Amino acid sequence: MTTFDPANMPALLGEAAPHFNVDAVVEIGSTNDELSRRVVARLAASGSVLVADRQTAGRGRQGRTWSADPVRSLTFSVYWRFSRSPMAMSGLSLAVGLGVLQGLQGLGAQSLGLKWPNDLLCQQAEAWGKLGGVLIELSPGRHGVDAIIGIGLNLLPVAVDGVQTACLQEALPSDSAPDRAAVLAAVLKSLRSILAGFDQSGFAPYRAAWESAHVWQNQVVRVTQSGETLHSGRCVGVDEAGVLWLETPTGRCPVQVGDVSLRVGEAT
Ligand code: BTN
Repeated sequence: MTTFDPANMPALLGEAAPHFNVDAVVEIGSTNDELSRRVVARLAASGSVLVADRQTAGRGRQGRTWSADPVRSLTFSVYWRFSRSPMAMSGLSLAVGLGVLQGLQGLGAQSLGLKWPNDLLCQQAEAWGKLGGVLIELSPGRHGVDAIIGIGLNLLPVAVDGVQTACLQEALPSDSAPDRAAVLAAVLKSLRSILAGFDQSGFAPYRAAWESAHVWQNQVVRVTQSGETLHSGRCVGVDEAGVLWLETPTGRCPVQVGDVSLRVGEAT
């Protein structure tokens, strides 16, 4: 039996309930892979959500792994069908990151921020720690684009490779353990409006809110991939396609891939 009980979801989702169908499994390789399999087999409609207590082959960005814990984390994927063309989907991962952040803020979480492209951070003492991440996989559908939106959140302290990450419990005013179903409902309610808005107008309407939540806006950062520095410069913001722009000594430069880290105490 799963520790996550989907039976309470319709009541928790309220007006958003007709837009989602939540299923839960004890263990799966990856919720993204399983939901994608169900979509291809026509076993899942847009709005299907799959929660897993454990993932044995969970995937993160840049080929990293992402596990799940039945108590300490909330791990799920959402299938959403967009009517936009595949070329008009850029910026979706930033919009989803913003939706997750706003959903958690609705529960009272404080000191949250976003890191390009889609990391959810929480400020602990002076430093920002990773509270969650988003992995989106797109495929062209018959009348638009099918998106599998995978989201992993740390609810209680967890260690990744021996390093303690940030967690939602630290961001909430009460010190009690966050309720997984209540967290999922808050995030889905927020996502519903953002996914519908994105389908209409793309990332543009969310750009200003994303930049105000961006933890390294106007700060000097380094962009790396596989340990190699690709760019270095001051973050000036994101454009309507969700591309990050840096001010470098040789001019403005767009960043489409990579991991962004702060260059403490350095100027451009
Ligand atoms: C990241 O690297 O920051 C993104 C992590 C996304 C992990 C989630 S957990 C649910 C879904 N299933 C997966 O295999 N990955 C995503």
